[in-house]
Amino acid sequence: MQHWPLGFLICLFLSFLLPGRGHGFTINCSGFDYRGVDPTVFASVIGRKDFRPVLNYSFPTYVNISFTMSSILDVDEQLQLLTSFLWLDMVWDNAFISWNPEECGGIQKISVTTQNLWLPDIFIIESVDVDQTPTGLTAYVSNEGRIKYKKPMRVTSICNLDIFRFPFDQQNCTLTFSSFLYTVDDMLLGMEKELWEIVDTSRNLIMTQGEWELLGINKATPKMSVGSSLYDQIMFHVAIKRRPGLYVVNLLLPSGFLIAIDALSFLLPVESGNRAPFKMTLLLGYTVFLLMMNDLLPASGIPLISVYFALCLTLMVTSLLESVFLTYLLHVVTTQPPPMPHWLYSLVLRYIKATECFNKRSQKENKGPGPNSIHLPGLKDPVVVTEWKPGPGKAGLNGDPQSPWTEPEQQNQRQRTVDMWVKFSLALDTMLFWLYLSFMSSSLTTIIILWKG
Ligand SMILES: *[C@@H]1O[C@H](CO)[C@@H](O)[C@H](O)[C@H]1NC(C)=O
Ligand SMILES: *[C@@H]1O[C@H](CO)[C@@H](O)[C@H](O)[C@H]1NC(C)=O
Ligand SMILES: *[C@@H]1O[C@H](CO)[C@@H](O)[C@H](O)[C@H]1NC(C)=O
Ligand SMILES: *[C@@H]1O[C@H](CO)[C@@H](O)[C@H](O)[C@H]1NC(C)=O
Repeated sequence: MQHWPLGFLICLFLSFLLPGRGHGFTINCSGFDYRGVDPTVFASVIGRKDFRPVLNYSFPTYVNISFTMSSILDVDEQLQLLTSFLWLDMVWDNAFISWNPEECGGIQKISVTTQNLWLPDIFIIESVDVDQTPTGLTAYVSNEGRIKYKKPMRVTSICNLDIFRFPFDQQNCTLTFSSFLYTVDDMLLGMEKELWEIVDTSRNLIMTQGEWELLGINKATPKMSVGSSLYDQIMFHVAIKRRPGLYVVNLLLPSGFLIAIDALSFLLPVESGNRAPFKMTLLLGYTVFLLMMNDLLPASGIPLISVYFALCLTLMVTSLLESVFLTYLLHVVTTQPPPMPHWLYSLVLRYIKATECFNKRSQKENKGPGPNSIHLPGLKDPVVVTEWKPGPGKAGLNGDPQSPWTEPEQQNQRQRTVDMWVKFSLALDTMLFWLYLSFMSSSLTTIIILWKG
């Protein structure tokens, strides 16, 4: 009997501490009147915002989330970061709040500032920036205690960016929503909207013709275990694609034009000496172009486009070297023609015959001059060249062994050697041109195939 007052006191204390057992959490609506909501009626809710709002702690809180991606602000290849702007929607039930709308003037939902509510601590695991959510946001509270909360977020998240196929690349970035503190015993995540709804609304919002286009979003829901605790999480794989137009117009096309002009400049006669300066100018122009366009390229890694630029530069330098070499060769053989080796002589002869055949055929077919129509102005007819005697060893055939050659005969012989060398140089030029063309087309095809991936 001595203990009765103490038990009574404990009961009193408990009922004071937990006034909401059973239906005790229902808000007394006498505070709702024509002037609006009386703040004192929410005193019971506000006093409990530090605790997870459930009546029985054996049950977890279900938080349903969804988001809308309203813009893709930046993709930083060097730091491997994706900056985007999200509107995060969260819906959960707060068991401490309920009222009867019939008693409360038909009010079914009211807005409450978030400072007065318990909020789930959902964050994005990949995020590397502090949460810059604006303060003073409000949430809708329904008469059944269902809370709808939306917040804008600027998310800078780590994303594994692969720029190999720049500017035709697609990126796949992951946004993982999880609770910072609560394990699966306390909080479970669900989807507020269907995935296609998220994708559709996001696509409609990202109307700006920026650099990035939203391709799609995939979802995965693996649980994350850290030590002995298990956390619920929802992963969204956001696939985005770069719009390559800017880069095609500013980088690929000019480069392609320059390399095409470089290939065409092989048509300039090498013996006129104009070709090497022309190619030099092209090379200079290309270098300036590369310097100016450097800003458009990703700052890290080696994308395929850099290989393409390096290839174009290599082709230009090689063709310049070829022109210089051929100009030098022509200069040497026209001023001091060295004796021609026998095998080379027969080779050139065979080549001349072949081109002669080809030219005759194309003349019959009434075609224009072939690619080998580059001739020195003073070049002898090939028929004359075939009668040429390749060395002084056959001088004995000339009849008079004592004085082998007369002066004009020597002149003739020299002229023939020069002609033969010139023919050889031009043939070499044509051959190197075809080699250049085939190397260029095969390497460009390879690069395009890699780009198509
Ligand atoms: C509601 O509160 C008013 C005064 O604030 C009180 O008179 C009334 O009895 C309460 N109603 C209920 C159902 O508790
Ligand atoms: C909470 O729920 C569990 C499981 O349903 C039940 O065993 C327990 O009695 C409940 N506790 C309270 C205080 O209602
Ligand atoms: C969350 O979503 C599930 C399934 O869609 C639904 O059953 C549940 O009522 C939702 N919970 C909340 C708090 O919206
Ligand atoms: C993105 O990557 C994840 C794995 O990291 C994969 O499961 C998902 O299918 C990818 N999404 C797309 C659209 O490629």
